Amino acid sequence: MSQDGKMRDDLQCVLYTSEQIQEAVASMGERITKDYAGKSPVMICILKGASLFFCDLIRHIDLPVRCEFVILSSYQDGVSTTGRVRIVQDTDCDVTGKDVLIVEDIVDTGFTLHTFSKMLAIRNAASIKIVTLLDKPHRRKVDLKSDYVCFEVPDAFVVGYGLDYADKYRNLPMVGVLDPKIYEPA
Ligand code: PRP
Repeated sequence: MSQDGKMRDDLQCVLYTSEQIQEAVASMGERITKDYAGKSPVMICILKGASLFFCDLIRHIDLPVRCEFVILSSYQDGVSTTGRVRIVQDTDCDVTGKDVLIVEDIVDTGFTLHTFSKMLAIRNAASIKIVTLLDKPHRRKVDLKSDYVCFEVPDAFVVGYGLDYADKYRNLPMVGVLDPKIYEPA
């Protein structure tokens, strides 16, 4: 990363500005509010990546939601998935008979949510839907469809607004493509 603290200089390009993200998140919240009218869904934030999206999204949902947080990890410090999903911290919320919305920052190969949604199905959730800020449907390695998507992204390594490389760049307000110089050996 740049030594002078200008994180955004490490981006090759900006894909979505903070304003575009906030607009998309607000309309996603309105859509979910309409679709779940009369219900009290359990919203599960997949940490760490979905933290910013989740906190912004729930403020646009006018329903009595229950908020839960789990920590899943499959990328460790690299730029590609290990394919092994680690449940670092689970939820103790009883989802039996509940409508569940899983909130993600990005769905890529689909391994992470394929594993986690199967766990929720075994726990007898009434319905399970996936809400994601970013989706890369062409990268799927398992049969998994996102139900609510803010943006479909090209096949590039993206960071910002919760998404990281080696646990950095999550606090950028925009989403951009990380300059390969940052992670490729010189
Ligand atoms: C990222 C992201 C998703 C997952 C998507 O998590 O937040 O959870 O990878 O990839 P997949 O569809 O190929 O499984 P990561 O393991 O990097 O942890 P993080 O949320 O702490 O960044």
